[in-house]
Amino acid sequence: MPPTPPAAVMILAAGAGTRMRSATPKVLHRIAGRTLVAHALAAAAELDPGRTVVVVRHERDAVVGHIHEAAPHALIADQDDVPGTGSAVRCGLSILDATAVAAAVAGGSVGDRAVLDAQVHGAVVVTSGDVPLVDGALLAALVEAHEADGNAVTVLTAEVADATGYGRIVRDTEGVVLRIVEHKDANQDEHEIAEINAGIYVFDATQLRDALARLTTDNSQGELYLTDVLALARDAGGRVGALVAPDAAAVEGVNDRVQLASAGAALNRRIVEAWMRAGVTVVDPSTTWIDADVTLEPDVTLLPGTQLYGSTVVRAHATVGPDSTLTDVEVGEAATVTRVHGSGSRIGAGATVGPFTFLRPGTVLGVEGKIGAFVETKNAVIGDHSKVPHLSYVGDATVGHHSNVGAGTIFVNYDGVSKNRSTVGSHVRIGSDNTLIAPVEIGDGAYTGAGAIIRHDVPAGALALNSVPQQVVEGWVERRRPGTPSAAAARAAQDVTVDGALSSGAQEERAAAAAEHKGEA
Ligand code: UD1
Ligand code: CA
Repeated sequence: MPPTPPAAVMILAAGAGTRMRSATPKVLHRIAGRTLVAHALAAAAELDPGRTVVVVRHERDAVVGHIHEAAPHALIADQDDVPGTGSAVRCGLSILDATAVAAAVAGGSVGDRAVLDAQVHGAVVVTSGDVPLVDGALLAALVEAHEADGNAVTVLTAEVADATGYGRIVRDTEGVVLRIVEHKDANQDEHEIAEINAGIYVFDATQLRDALARLTTDNSQGELYLTDVLALARDAGGRVGALVAPDAAAVEGVNDRVQLASAGAALNRRIVEAWMRAGVTVVDPSTTWIDADVTLEPDVTLLPGTQLYGSTVVRAHATVGPDSTLTDVEVGEAATVTRVHGSGSRIGAGATVGPFTFLRPGTVLGVEGKIGAFVETKNAVIGDHSKVPHLSYVGDATVGHHSNVGAGTIFVNYDGVSKNRSTVGSHVRIGSDNTLIAPVEIGDGAYTGAGAIIRHDVPAGALALNSVPQQVVEGWVERRRPGTPSAAAARAAQDVTVDGALSSGAQEERAAAAAEHKGEA
């Protein structure tokens, strides 16, 4: 059973993240297609909290701009000049209280007792913008433990092999949590403690407010430590509890790019496993990458080397891969996508794409359609049962249903100044190696000859031809390229006797020419 929704979730994201050595703020780095802070927002949203507030400071405008996109309803709290997690939470809590006042004003009149006293009550979850493996389920377990024990503070902890840098959980001999000591303030004995503070908590809002008011900077870093709230809440008579995370790796923060990559891999494993449990066949999980916002249906098969990014959707019974990268692509039911690089495209049910195909944004392929080997498409709507099987470029075009675009056809969409669109009807047969110079329209049922250059519209049912008649210059090779293997082959071909048999001399010459030709190939 999910716990009672907390009054608020607060996400701390004001830190500089210097170890990333990046022009991009740490919380805007991405894994599984989402920024680190978007992962925190998604986990928060699973709790269905009354409010969500993100505390920002470093690269404030970039971070806030992103939060407005990822979670439009999230509140923003700007941290002041006082350093430390305690200061960050003070700033976050004052925004939550101010919002509670605003809500009370909206529902009553200024000066009312209810308005003057309005502030946040109940459970406030505090988490961090750089712990992308902490999901809604883990936060929910923490809230549940907090509720069940009636705590003032419940802290998430983990047992780790190397606790260097972390705050340590100090318990008494009975195991009761007393306080947290920061690594830099810890004595020799405390350094031995393997249980660390994951930096994720549930607080009772009132007890948090009281304790925050009593924080001091009397520590080795001269900061306001949020961690001091535990001892202060105990002093004030509150209960302090801890939940030990079942998987220590899941609470690890991202501080540098090595941790970013390992968190990315861990999250990908989790996503791939969840899809396998939901009925997707993944032949090689280690080379399959699936973003958090991808949707897959049962009996999809993903072959090795497949990356599904963004809002990609793969419908039931479709097969993707090997070696395919799809970003924001919808793959229809039972479609086959083999060695394809695609983005912003839609592939119809039962269609086939690939191998070695480049689908650019705006490609729409109809039911049972085909886009084959060495074809590039862009802004191309190709109808049901229509095919572009080989070696073509289809840009800015609409093709009707049951049409075929011959091998090597180019839709010439750019005249050097602007892009133009071409339209091809249904049941059209475009010959091989055609050049369609846009804007041009080919009517339903029309044919074009091989090698045609189509500059003008072709009416429905017509045949368009414009290749020059073939010219044949007899004996040209022997006259103009004497002594070459081609000339020898031409000679040999002419030595054929009237009844079709070759003279023995001609047979030898032909064999020699063939051997030489093979050697050149
Ligand atoms: C903090 C805890 C430590 C815990 C560790 C877990 C304190 C005093 N210590 O360590 O016990 O083991 O997290 O990772 O809380 N932040 C702000 N404003 C600030 C400072 C930090 O918003 O002024 C944010 C950071 O952006 C980050 C989070 O708070 O998201 C934790 O900050 P960080 O500096 O990584 O943690 P520590 O203080 O080292
Ligand atoms: Ca730190």
